[in-house]
Amino acid sequence: MSQKEPQSEIQRISALIAEGDIAASLGNIASEFPGQVVFSTSFSWEDQAIAHIIFSQGLAIDVFTLDTGRLFPETYSTWSRTLEKYNHTITAYYPDAAALQHFVAEKGPNSFYESVENRKQCCHIRKVEPLQRALKGKKVWITGIRAEHSPNRHDMTQVEWDGSNNVVKYHPILHWTTDETIAFINNNNIPYNPLHDKGFVSIGCAPCTRAIRPGEDFRAGRWWWEDASKKECGLHVHEEVKSL
Ligand code: ADX
Ligand code: SF4
Repeated sequence: MSQKEPQSEIQRISALIAEGDIAASLGNIASEFPGQVVFSTSFSWEDQAIAHIIFSQGLAIDVFTLDTGRLFPETYSTWSRTLEKYNHTITAYYPDAAALQHFVAEKGPNSFYESVENRKQCCHIRKVEPLQRALKGKKVWITGIRAEHSPNRHDMTQVEWDGSNNVVKYHPILHWTTDETIAFINNNNIPYNPLHDKGFVSIGCAPCTRAIRPGEDFRAGRWWWEDASKKECGLHVHEEVKSL
């Protein structure tokens, strides 16, 4: 059930943010809410930058990924290289087997191309419901969202309430530019998804992501066959979010 925004929690977490120092901010939040802070990674540029900070500083933040079963081989290899480099646990959450079996039996493996309804159902089973499990009982959810990703994300603030999951979200690199993000990756020798070198900027599931051409929007390669207004998978539901 969706709960009302707890302003006091948002203010408490906002007060822990040290301007310009992401490692200190994450460390402060982790100390204030032991065992209740999680970071979700899709192994994108952004997520690799945050994972690097968490792992190299030894911060007490659990890191998880949503393995939809339809990720690119390059994403799995980035996941492996991250484990090799940092030797830290990344917990994978999987779709509920019975729900997925039923959905695929009824509609086939690629029904997401046929309608927005099918696509949303697939995203719900493969991402949203596993996310709900990953966030259960947690207080703070850290993401790699950046304002430059989309007009929708432009309006977001670093700390906000997620009424669908009843957690406070913190987007530490919300205001980083793409160039700053890439520079951080290169300067720190962080493993990254090789698809980023082939025109893929925003990377999700393989059948639903393509490279973009110069001049196209950041998220143009996600669910490219759909109307731009429908392009959210339900992980980040901004309509219900009221920010500070
Ligand atoms: S999405 O809503 O379009 O799929 P996007 O790819 O922009 O999200 O990623 C934004 C943030 O959502 C990432 O920085 C990460 O925190 C989280 N995220 C997206 N996909 C996953 C995934 N498969 N596993 C874990 N976290 C994810
Ligand atoms: Fe299914 Fe595509 Fe959504 Fe992945 S992005 S969960 S394959 S509809």
